[in-house]
Amino acid sequence: MCGVVGAIQRGGGVVETLLQGLRLLEYRGYDSAGVAVLEAGAISIRRKAGRLERLEHSLSDGTLSGARAGIGHTRWATHGPPSDENAHPHTDAEGRVALVHNGVIENWAELRAELEAAGVRFASDTDTEVLAHLVGREVARGRELPDAVRASLARVRGYYAIAALAQGERGPRIVCARSGPPLAVAAGPDGVYLASDVLALIAHTRDVVFLEDGDVCELELGRPLRVTRIDGTVVDRPTRRVEWDPESAGKGSFPHYMLKEIHEQPDVLARTAFDRLRLDKGDVDFGVPGFGDHELRAIDRIQVVACGTALHAGWIARYLIEGLARIPVDVDYASEFRYRDPVLAHNTLALAISQSGETADTLAALRLAKTLGARTAAICNVVGSTLVRESQATILTHAGPEIGVASTKAFVAQVVAAFLFAVRLGRARGVLSLAQGKELVSELRLLRPKMESLLGERAVSEVRDIAQKNRSQRGFLFLGRGINYPIALEGALKLKEISYVHAEGYPAGEMKHGPIALIDPEMSILVVNSAGPLAEKVRSNLEQVRARGGHVIAIGSDRESIAQSDEHVLVPECSEWLSPILNVIPLQLVAYHMADLKGLDIDKPRNLAKSVTVE
Ligand code: G6P
Repeated sequence: MCGVVGAIQRGGGVVETLLQGLRLLEYRGYDSAGVAVLEAGAISIRRKAGRLERLEHSLSDGTLSGARAGIGHTRWATHGPPSDENAHPHTDAEGRVALVHNGVIENWAELRAELEAAGVRFASDTDTEVLAHLVGREVARGRELPDAVRASLARVRGYYAIAALAQGERGPRIVCARSGPPLAVAAGPDGVYLASDVLALIAHTRDVVFLEDGDVCELELGRPLRVTRIDGTVVDRPTRRVEWDPESAGKGSFPHYMLKEIHEQPDVLARTAFDRLRLDKGDVDFGVPGFGDHELRAIDRIQVVACGTALHAGWIARYLIEGLARIPVDVDYASEFRYRDPVLAHNTLALAISQSGETADTLAALRLAKTLGARTAAICNVVGSTLVRESQATILTHAGPEIGVASTKAFVAQVVAAFLFAVRLGRARGVLSLAQGKELVSELRLLRPKMESLLGERAVSEVRDIAQKNRSQRGFLFLGRGINYPIALEGALKLKEISYVHAEGYPAGEMKHGPIALIDPEMSILVVNSAGPLAEKVRSNLEQVRARGGHVIAIGSDRESIAQSDEHVLVPECSEWLSPILNVIPLQLVAYHMADLKGLDIDKPRNLAKSVTVE
C-alpha cells in the first residue's frame, strides 16, 4: 500500500531524508509521491503523479533544501486515480495542515458531505483530504496539533497510518497515528523519524518504537517521543532493536532487487533453519514458547490462512504437515476464510503465513479464527509486525528485508519454516521416529549447495535461453502434482506478476478436465517433476501435452521427463519433501528473465503493491 515517512532533523536537508525514505518505501506503492515541509513556519508542498523520480526532479531546484521538518508519501491509489491532485500530502483549505495517509477512511463520504455543507471545498477525490480538513478545522479552533489530530481521529472509521504537520507551530512538530497499517517511530542522534516500514528508519537508528493500533505519537526535536491513545491517555511503548543491516536494503551489484533476492536464497535457508536444527535428536528447536511437545500434541487440526505467494507456501505446508505429522490441514485464501462463516473443529491451530505480517485479509482471518476458539501461530518475516504481535506463537523467517514486489526469498523461507514446523510436529506426536527425523534434518542441511548450483552461471544462462525462446508464446500452463503442485501455482503467479503474460498453474492430473483444450504450439507447458512416487504419473500428463503439439519445458530431477521435453532445467535430486525449494528457483528465474527481456519494471510491476493493507 502507501508508504509514509516523516522527519525533523537538527540540520537542514530534510527533503533528502524524506526522499531517501521514500526510495526505500517505493515498493509499497508507486503511482504518485509527494512531500510537505515546514520552512520558516510555513508549509510548502510538492507532489507528482508517476514514479518517485518525477518528484525528485521537481525538487532538484533546491528551493526547499534548507527545511528541517517534513512528511512524505508514496501512493498506491484507492480513492481517485493517480494524479497530481490526488497525490499526498493533502491540506485543509487554508493550507494550515498537511497530512499523508496509508489506509482507507471508511466514513469519508459522510464526513465529506458534512464538511461541504459547512462550506469546505475539496481539491481531490481522496478520502484522505477529509481528514486534512478535519484536523485543519480543529487547529483553526485553537487546538494544538496533537489535540487536533486526536479529536479528528475520534470521528474517523477505517484504518490508517497518518502523519500530520501544521504551520505556525511553536517549533517543528509532527504528529502521527496508527490504526491498522504499520507505523514505527525513532529518535536518533540527529533527529526524530517516522516511517511505515523500519527499512526507512535503520539508516538513522536501529532502536525503534512500533506504534500500536489506536496510538498517536508526537515527534519533536530534543524531547522524548510522546505516545498517547486517541483519548489522550499517555502510554509507554518499548523501544526494540532491529537487527536488519542497512546494507541489506540495497541492491548490491545486482540490476534488480528481485535477482538479488533470488540469489540470497541459499543464505536464507541457512539463516532460517540451521541454528534451529538438532541433528542428534532428529528434531527442531524454535527457541521460543509455543512449540513444546505438550502444546503440539493438543492440536487436532490446522487451518492455514494467507494471501498471494504466502498462500502457496501454505499449500506446501499442508503436504508437509499431513505427510510428516499426520494432522489434517485446511488451507484457505484469507479473503475467503474471513467471509465464509467458517466452522472450526475443536483444538484447531490457525496458522497465518505472511512476509510482511501486515496483510489486512490475513490479519482479519487470524483474528476471526481466534474468536472462533482457535489457538494461533504465525510464520512471518517481520519482527514487531501486527501478525507477530497478535499471534500466540511465531516462527520468524530470517529472509531479511524483501524489496522486490514479487516475493521470492520470503517464499523459500516460508517453505523452510513450514518444513521445520512439520518435522517438529511429527517428532512431538511420535509420528516421525528418531531415525526419520535425523534423515529429514540432514537432508535440509544438504540443500544449500544444491540451491547454489541452480544459481550458477550455467544454470542461469540455460534459463535465460528458455525465456528467450518462449518470450513470444501466447500463454503458459504450469503443471505439477503433490507437493510440487503449489510450485506450479507459484511459477505461474511469478510470470503473471512481472511479465504480464497469461499463465495458469494447474494440478497435472486435472489438466485433462479443461486446460488441455488450450494446448497448441503457441502454448508453453512448464512441467515440474521431481523423481519420486508421482513422477510416472506426471510423465503421462506430459505425454498428453506432447500428443497435442504443446511446447514442453521440464523442470525437476526426473530425467525421463527431461528426455521427453523441448527444453529443460535439470534440478539436483533431494528428498521429495524439500523438492519445492529447489524447483521454484528456475521458475523464479524464468519469470525474471522473461520480464527483463521485455524491458519491464521488474521490481515494481504495474498495479501491484508489496504489502496490501486494504481489503
Ligand atoms: C501482495 C504481494 C505478494 C504477497 C502478498 C501477501 O499481493 O504483492 O507478493 O505474496 O501480498 O503478502 P504477505 O506480506 O502477507 O506475505
